[in-house]
Amino acid sequence: MTDRLALFGGPKTVTLAQDYRWPVLGQAEIDAVVGLMREGRISIGDGSGPIGDLEAAFARYTGARYALMHNSGTAALHAAYYGVGVGPGDEVLVPSYTWHATAGAVVAANGVPVFCESDPRTLNLDVDDAARRITPRTKAIAVVHMWGNVADLDAVMDLARARGLAVVEDCSHAHGATWCAKHVGTIGDVGAFSLQGSKVLVAGEGGMLITNDPTIFDRALVLGSHGRIQYHAHDDTVRELTTGLGFKYRPHPLGAAIALEQFRSLDVWNAGRRDNYDYLMTGLADLPALKITQTHAGAVRGGYYGTRLLYDHAKLVGISRGALLKALRAEGVEVDVERYPLLHLTPYYRNRQRAYDGYLAPTARPDFDATPYESGDLPATECFHQQLLALPVYTTPQFPLLDQIIEAFHKVMSGTSVEELKDAEERGDPVLFE
Ligand SMILES: Cc1ncc(COP(=O)(O)O)c(C=O)c1O
Repeated sequence: MTDRLALFGGPKTVTLAQDYRWPVLGQAEIDAVVGLMREGRISIGDGSGPIGDLEAAFARYTGARYALMHNSGTAALHAAYYGVGVGPGDEVLVPSYTWHATAGAVVAANGVPVFCESDPRTLNLDVDDAARRITPRTKAIAVVHMWGNVADLDAVMDLARARGLAVVEDCSHAHGATWCAKHVGTIGDVGAFSLQGSKVLVAGEGGMLITNDPTIFDRALVLGSHGRIQYHAHDDTVRELTTGLGFKYRPHPLGAAIALEQFRSLDVWNAGRRDNYDYLMTGLADLPALKITQTHAGAVRGGYYGTRLLYDHAKLVGISRGALLKALRAEGVEVDVERYPLLHLTPYYRNRQRAYDGYLAPTARPDFDATPYESGDLPATECFHQQLLALPVYTTPQFPLLDQIIEAFHKVMSGTSVEELKDAEERGDPVLFE
C-alpha cells in the first residue's frame, strides 16, 4: 500500500461497502402493523394494546415504576419539565451542545433555558459550570447522555440534591445505557427518550417518559394524555381533569407496535454498536491528534446515536479540520463536522429576550437578564465544537470495514502524508479549497 493520499491521486483506502442502513424493519413489524389495521385498532383508547404493552416493557427493562409513551421525544421532554414543576420564569440549566428539543421543551413549559458548558472529555454537561449558573430561579438541571455516553450522574445528583433542583435526563441518544447498573432515566427524577426513526429503539415517531414518582407521572398525564387520565392517574383531583391541559401528546398505536417488535432486538443492536464503537476507538487511540471521549467508571454506553471524536488541531499544526476531512473523505471515510449547532448561538436563543417573550409576558420576570448570548460566552464548548468529527454508527459487525477506516485515519494523520497535506494547505492547493 502506497502512502500517497487519495486526495493527490493515490489509492483509496476504504473500498468495502458501508452498511449503516437504519432502521432495520422486518416482517414482524409489518405483521404487527397490518394486524392492528385489519382490526381497526389505530387509536389509543384507554392505553391498552401496543401502547400499554410498550410502556410495560419499557418500565420492566429500565426498572422504572412508570412509563408513559408520547408521540415524540420532544413531547416527552415537555411533559418531563412540566412534571417536575417547571413553570413561568423558572430557569433550567441545559447544555448548549444538544439537540434543540432539550431546550425548546423548557420554553414550551414556560421556563427559561440557561445554557451551560459541556466537558470536552465526555461531551456532556459540565456540572461545575452548571453549578455556577444556579440562581434563586433555577428549578431543574437537564442532562443529555450525548451519543450514548452517560453523563456524570453522581455529580449531577449531588448538585441537584444539595440545591433542591429536579433532574431531567434526556436519554434520547442512550437507550439501554446504565450508570452503576441502573438504567439511564431512572437516576434523575424523570427520563425522556425519543423513539424517532433514527434512534436505536424505533417507533417511527414517538417518545417515552419514565419516572418513579407518581406525581410526576400524573402531571405528565394531565399535560398531554387526555382520555387516559381517568384510568391511570393516582391522585383523585387529577383524575377529575379528564381532558387534561389541552396538548395532545398521545402516541400512535402503529408506532408502538413497531417499537414493541424492535424492543426484542435492542440489546443485540446495542451490543453490535458497542463492539464496532470500541473496535474503532481502540484502533484510533494511538493517534495523538484524535481525542476519544471518556466513559465514566461505572457507566455503560448504550444507544450509540452517533460517533464523535475530537480533532486536536494543535497536535497537527498546519492541518485544518477542513483539510483533514477532505483527505479522509478522499480515502473513502464518511466523516463530517458536527451537525448540531450550539443552541446559545442559534438566532432564537441568541436573542434571549425574544426566546423569553415567546411564551411569557415580559412582566413575569422583571429581573430577567436579556443580554443576548454572544460568541465566547461558552468558550470551552465553542472550542471543542470546532474540533468535532462525526462518523456513522455501525450496528452489524463491520470489523473489516473498520480496519480500513482505521488505516485511512493513520494514512492521513501520520507518516509522509502529514507533510504532503501541510504543504498543500500552506500553498493553498485548490484540491483542498475548492
Ligand atoms: C437529545 C435529543 N433530545 C430530544 C430529541 C427529540 O426527539 P423527537 O425527535 O422524538 O421529538 C432528540 C431527537 O433527535 C434528541 O437527539
